[in-house]
Amino acid sequence: MKRKQIETNRLYKDLAYLWPLVSKPEDYAKEASFWRKALRDKLGEGRHHILELGVGGGNNLSHLTNDFKATAVDISDKIMDNSRRLNPDVEHIVGDMRTVRLGRTFDAVIIHDAIAYMQTEDELRAAFATAAAHLEPGGVFVTSPDNTTENYTDGKLWHDTESDGKTTLTHIQFEYDPDPDDTSVNTLMFYLIRKDGKLRVEQDLHVTGLFSQQRWIDLMEEAGFAVELQEYPVHEDARQAYLFVGVKKK
Ligand SMILES: C[S@@+](CC[C@H](N)C(=O)[O-])C[C@H]1O[C@@H](n2cnc3c(N)ncnc32)[C@H](O)[C@@H]1O
Repeated sequence: MKRKQIETNRLYKDLAYLWPLVSKPEDYAKEASFWRKALRDKLGEGRHHILELGVGGGNNLSHLTNDFKATAVDISDKIMDNSRRLNPDVEHIVGDMRTVRLGRTFDAVIIHDAIAYMQTEDELRAAFATAAAHLEPGGVFVTSPDNTTENYTDGKLWHDTESDGKTTLTHIQFEYDPDPDDTSVNTLMFYLIRKDGKLRVEQDLHVTGLFSQQRWIDLMEEAGFAVELQEYPVHEDARQAYLFVGVKKK
């Protein structure tokens, strides 16, 4: 019997309306403080222009727009509706971080958790090349993997329930690695959506990349960046995360 394929990334497409119940701007305040500091330390004072690739709902970005002018790109127009509401002064453009070329440069490029969607080294290379293509020498690139091979835990289960008074969402997430020999892992998501006395269940699969810290450094250097790792202590568990801060070489 042929196994039914689970649709991927529905949270950014037909289920994007659930985003405000999945993730809130205030959840990103601590993370954003590290991104702001990393950018400020490298760029200095001034309202520098940053480009975010994979902006999603724009939660992290919402904490940076007081300091920086911003342009945002995402592969999904639907999820960007959340960012447009939150960040009305930001220019939003549909594009793929592996291939998009806006034909202009910025003071910095950031790729927050969206970088996780690069499943192979070639995809990671392509995203880093996009960052480099939008910077002049001396320009700054900041990104960060949620997981590396050093800290990944197979079989992690997480759930949360949020309500906006009309819809109550129970979001269940199961992270597992179906093939330890490749560079991707799966997150299976279930959404239990209660509205008007009815329960609807939807499922969604997110396939993300998993590489060693050293491969990240090697591939960023290959793309023309001098790389520095900055401690980024934001995980609820004991995992140590890092911001990978690159400066484009001359
Ligand atoms: C977890 S969400 C980002 C959330 C965001 N950091 C925030 O603070 O709201 C990940 C985003 O990456 C986007 N994405 C995935 N692959 C992409 C690609 N190849 N190019 C551009 N965006 C991509 C998805 O559409 C999704 O909006």
